[in-house]
Amino acid sequence: LRNRQPIVAIDGPAGAGKSTVTRVVAQQLGLLYLDTGAMYRAVTWLVLQSGIALDDESAIAELVSQCQIKFVENQQNESSPQILINDYDVTQAIRSMEVTAQVSAIAALHSVRTELVRQQQNIGKKGGIVAEGRDIGTNVFPDAELKIFLTASVQERARRRLLELQKQGQENVTLEQLENLIQERDMSDSNRTFAPLRKAIDAVEIQTDNLSIVEVTNQIISLYKQQLTTN
Ligand code: DC
Repeated sequence: LRNRQPIVAIDGPAGAGKSTVTRVVAQQLGLLYLDTGAMYRAVTWLVLQSGIALDDESAIAELVSQCQIKFVENQQNESSPQILINDYDVTQAIRSMEVTAQVSAIAALHSVRTELVRQQQNIGKKGGIVAEGRDIGTNVFPDAELKIFLTASVQERARRRLLELQKQGQENVTLEQLENLIQERDMSDSNRTFAPLRKAIDAVEIQTDNLSIVEVTNQIISLYKQQLTTN
């Protein structure tokens, strides 16, 4: 028997629906939600704020090694925690276009990954979490009880993103531009040297093109229950 609570790892490319699905699964299973992408985004925000050149890896490494990332409960929305870096609330700021454009480059740095993986493993050391990212099942929690790899076609992911942007009143982007951006981000996340995006051999792949959020979360919850009763 393990001396920690179970861990669910949810990996996959940008726009496959990971965030919503992970949040709902965590809520329904009564586990903590860990958004590791938000941590890479927070660090990217910090680097951009600091004015350090994006190719100055040793200065970035120094900055990141001293940073403190905290997730705190959101009074307004308990399933979606706020994120603080060095006590600044960056919950909104990390979703900006500027951070989104630079985060892949920062997330590719070995020193950044080493530090953030250390912080993620520390947050998850007692288990009881559902963690989403790109390398959770392969690298951060390779012994997770359940590993899910969520995918969707580039077209479907672009379509979902467009709807999201339209809801926020951002109409100045086309489906084709979004498809290109998604393809670029997939390429850089999958081809980087350290901990690239790939499915763990023991992960269950769910292709979500024709599935609703409820269908995906129900599948994951039933896999989780099966897994816990067979082990
Ligand atoms: O899931 P997201 O879009 O918030 O992730 C932001 C970026 O961080 C994305 O380009 C991939 C990277 N990332 C990563 O390299 N490893 C993780 N575990 C999570 C995210």
